[in-house]
Amino acid sequence: MKGFTYLIYALLTFVSFSSAHPGMGDTMAAMRREANKVKRVESKVLIGDLKTLKDTQLTPIGKDIKAILLDQLDAESNIIDTSIPAGSLGSAACKADLCCVWKWISYEMTAKFNGTSGRCNKFARQAVRLGFHDAGVWSNTSTYGGADGSILLSDEMTRADNNGLSAIADQMKAWYNKYSPYGVSMADLIQMGANVATVACPLGPRIRSFVGRKDNSKAGPASLLPGHLDSADTLIKLFAAKTIDAHDLVALVGAHTTSQQHFVNTGRDGDPQDSTPGVWDVKFYPETTGNAAPRVLKFQSDINLSKDPRSAGEWQEFSNPSNGQDHWNEDYAKAYTRLSLLGVNNINDLKECTKVLPPHRSSYVAEDQVILDMWLQGQFNQLNSLVDDAIMLTGFGGGGSGTIITP
Ligand code: HEM
Ligand SMILES: *[C@@H]1O[C@H](CO)[C@@H](O)[C@H](O)[C@H]1NC(C)=O
Ligand SMILES: *[C@@H]1O[C@H](CO)[C@@H](O)[C@H](O)[C@H]1NC(C)=O
Ligand SMILES: *[C@@H]1O[C@H](CO)[C@@H](O)[C@H](O)[C@H]1NC(C)=O
Repeated sequence: MKGFTYLIYALLTFVSFSSAHPGMGDTMAAMRREANKVKRVESKVLIGDLKTLKDTQLTPIGKDIKAILLDQLDAESNIIDTSIPAGSLGSAACKADLCCVWKWISYEMTAKFNGTSGRCNKFARQAVRLGFHDAGVWSNTSTYGGADGSILLSDEMTRADNNGLSAIADQMKAWYNKYSPYGVSMADLIQMGANVATVACPLGPRIRSFVGRKDNSKAGPASLLPGHLDSADTLIKLFAAKTIDAHDLVALVGAHTTSQQHFVNTGRDGDPQDSTPGVWDVKFYPETTGNAAPRVLKFQSDINLSKDPRSAGEWQEFSNPSNGQDHWNEDYAKAYTRLSLLGVNNINDLKECTKVLPPHRSSYVAEDQVILDMWLQGQFNQLNSLVDDAIMLTGFGGGGSGTIITP
């Protein structure tokens, strides 16, 4: 016990030391990360057909996905095809090229998800959450559910869990009607939507994107999605049963960096979960544990997770202003790849169309920051539903064609 107390003391001293000396802290953080990796590989669980297939039976895609799931391979990719699609939608040339239809879809999704402010908009944020809510309805005891399109092919949308997703649901169904004649499944459309949306947000990772999932119109099992009042213990157990460990869970909830809630507190409709909604930065992490602007509304579930000893360490690492972003993007991409394959039993037969995604944006300057700052302090309630396009309203940086709003 004495040794244990001493260890805690040593760690605390170490933490304050490393924050006082950022350069040194980075090296130490990198060392801790390497040590963590070794530990994590052992605890990584395989899913779907990869649980039973032998290495000799794996396709190149199957091998890559297995390595990503085992934390041995990066799930981000910059491989991009900037050429125009092989042919128009439905043409023989387009049908002959697997990713052609996905290229048309990516163009349409990117246009829909990119706000005029340069931030990603509410359709993007909802698309990321929709990807989670389709795939997340699965546990290691389920015989069905997961990333199967059922969120939009069954009555799952009537569940309270899915409040706040109706705009993307309608849009996704319209895309499905347009593109399903060309062999596109709802499950893939939803997961590609989440990946296009993530990279459409400034700083968001460009996540490797696989297609070939099968649809199911049967509603997934109930009570498998988290609640905003859940304790850290409840959340960690809920996700463990989805093969998602505490580390990956901390990475995934970072998606709240883009969020603007509507149903947690209806009196504060549109209030964000960090100071930069629509931007895939790491501010969500330190703002959840520390001070945040008055308009930032923190979820109790996020606060709980940020404090639990099983998740607090990673929370702190992602909060690091010098390397937190790259670390988080890398971990989020891996964790989301796993999430997007829950319940998928033909992983070895999937194909890859990552090249259709828009480019990653590694920097972002909010030209309307002056107005946003006032909004974050509590002014300009009318901006709550307009942050996506605030630059148009304010006229800042937008060529002066917008109207300047006054408080
Ligand atoms: C710890 C578990 C989680 C809880 C309790 C939780 C809960 C919530 C709640 C209550 C909202 C606000 C919905 C609204 O009022 O409109 C929300 C928004 C959101 N969540 Fe989560 N979530 C969790 C994990 C995740 C994960 C794993 C992802 C994605 C990988 C995610 C992505 C999002 C996104 C992008 C939004 C913003 C939606 C928007 O702005 O319209 N969440 N979440
Ligand atoms: C999104 O919009 C911004 C601002 O209009 C622009 O700079 C950026 O290139 C767009 N991104 C994509 C992927 O189209
Ligand atoms: C988690 O959040 C709830 C509120 O929903 C709070 O009452 C509880 O103390 C928190 N639990 C932990 C372990 O932090
Ligand atoms: C499901 O996951 C939980 C949490 O990790 C674990 O305790 C349990 O043994 C798993 N069950 C099966 C059937 O794999």
